[in-house]
Amino acid sequence: MKIHLQTPSEIRPQIWIELGRASLDRHHEWRTPVLASTDADGLPDARTVVLRQVDAGAGQLTFYTDSRSPKVAQLQAKSPAMLVFWSARLSWQLRVRVACTVITAGPEVDVLWQGVKQSAAAGDYLSLLPPGVVLPQTSGKANVETASVDPANAPAPAHSFAILRAQVLQMDWLELSREGHRRAQLSDTTWEWLTP
Ligand SMILES: Cc1cc2nc3c(=O)[nH]c(=O)nc-3n(C[C@H](O)[C@H](O)[C@H](O)COP(=O)(O)O)c2cc1C
Repeated sequence: MKIHLQTPSEIRPQIWIELGRASLDRHHEWRTPVLASTDADGLPDARTVVLRQVDAGAGQLTFYTDSRSPKVAQLQAKSPAMLVFWSARLSWQLRVRVACTVITAGPEVDVLWQGVKQSAAAGDYLSLLPPGVVLPQTSGKANVETASVDPANAPAPAHSFAILRAQVLQMDWLELSREGHRRAQLSDTTWEWLTP
């Protein structure tokens, strides 16, 4: 059922409620936004990520990633990024300007890694080869047989699990509706209706 919210004071908290739900519900369409960043040549790059935690009070969205992945170097060099969410159920697109910080070590990483390492995703963060490295054979599977590193001689891999924290700076909310589309640009303290 579509909810029809009227005022900024209704819509703003509902955006954060939906983000919070998406971090908990694997079927929520906002669970897997696209994160766009800028590479070292100033060119756009983008990829799907899973929304893991939402702190509405702090205005922060949290993702997990591999500290060796190209996006991490990109975001460490240039922290501004953009997240794009779309939900057909809500008919809502949300574009979120963020400043990203990557946390690769420390108590928060240690605590989360204790959980992640029990999960099916653990192998992703323990692979010998970093994400994006060209594989020597054509199978497309980065297992130890295809990796160019000899596992017998390789040191036990330390995990490369990292936390990607996105501080929300501004949002662009768009609602598609037969009764008329609505769009607004909002920050913590501001709200402006825009032509959709
Ligand atoms: C549904 C889906 C969810 C994904 N979630 C994540 C994620 O949470 N973190 C992540 O680092 N990569 C995730 N990926 C993989 C990224 O989209 C990307 O392929 C990978 O991180 C390498 O990106 P980079 O080369 O830009 O660093 C996901 C891919 C898909 C299709």
